[in-house]
Amino acid sequence: TQTLATLADRHHLAVGTAIDVGALSDPTYRSIASTEFSTVTPENVMKWEALEPTRGRYDWSAADRFMRFAEANDQQVRGHVLVWSNQLPGWLTEGVADGSIDRTELRALLRKHVTDVVTRYKGRIWQWDVVNEAVEDGFDPGPDGVVGYKGFWYDNLGPGYVADAFRWARAADPKALLFYNDYNIDAFADGGSLDKTQFVYDMVRDLKARGVPVDGVGSQAHLSTRYPNYSSFQIADALNRFAGLGVATALTEVDVRNLLPEERTGDTINPLLQAQAFNYGALMQGCLASRKCISYTVWGFDDGHSWTNDWDFGGGVGTEALAAIYDEDYRPKPAYAQLQADLAYA
Ligand code: G3I
Repeated sequence: TQTLATLADRHHLAVGTAIDVGALSDPTYRSIASTEFSTVTPENVMKWEALEPTRGRYDWSAADRFMRFAEANDQQVRGHVLVWSNQLPGWLTEGVADGSIDRTELRALLRKHVTDVVTRYKGRIWQWDVVNEAVEDGFDPGPDGVVGYKGFWYDNLGPGYVADAFRWARAADPKALLFYNDYNIDAFADGGSLDKTQFVYDMVRDLKARGVPVDGVGSQAHLSTRYPNYSSFQIADALNRFAGLGVATALTEVDVRNLLPEERTGDTINPLLQAQAFNYGALMQGCLASRKCISYTVWGFDDGHSWTNDWDFGGGVGTEALAAIYDEDYRPKPAYAQLQADLAYA
């Protein structure tokens, strides 16, 4: 059988995975990661807390190791992530909390961070996630009940940091495609005040109108069989509407959590594994149907390394997990076969 990467080539689509750098010492992990995928994203090692654990002292070792892996396998890199409210170094968040870092200094620190990281890997990054998860969730819109900006950077710098970050990134590497990246923007809802997809759409439209260098919108697509499915038509519609703003689109962190323990009943035809495959497939079909969708990246390819196993999505850790396309023993699941079929058929 052909790999996902080979099958996708024909569509000029890159298929990717997030890489857990620690897992690269496992030969099976390494072999699948290097053959099935044409693009890779570092799951954690390019985040600020990893790159600058101590103020003023960069540690590029893990990020460099990731880059060597990608380049040895001729894989295009999605850089992740320049500006996010999570996984920030303690010295930064504590400095802001205790008042020793003021607004002016914070903005200068952010500018230096974006510039230094983009410059370090200049010319080697295909797509950068410049700003990540800057918008409230439609399901949890904060006290005012309306979707708006959220997070550490908005709270401390106001909304202007978004445009600043894109401009700083462009100045440091004019060739990288600069992305806004977020979750729960898979489909448009009703356009009302809880429609996060619409808010992100309006934000990107305004940035483009002001000449801010935004090249792409990344839809993370963290889904769960616990919630209603999206059809490929809804996915393609959302991607096409973003493309109408003059940006590329990408599915950047695809995974589909399953409700457990039902998944492990041992049935020959397991409905939850089928539902998981359906969601992976709808996303692939939607991406293939939308001409500006340039990459489809899964957020980890095997259940053994899926972040969902350690996360509480409301029902307790381990109740909604095993979100990947291979199982813990690296056996392909129905979702893998679905992606193969979608890529071979279309
Ligand atoms: O690095 C420490 C290690 O020193 C410590 O011993 C260990 C003990 O728990 O924790 C390690 O940190 C963990 C880190 O991943 C690195 O492995 C954190 O606990 C853990 O919370 C963290 O989770 C990551 C998560 O982002 C946190 O923000 C996941 O691996 C990663 O998959 C996830 O990725 C995000 C994307 O960046 C953005 N979109 C959502 C996506 C899923 O949450």
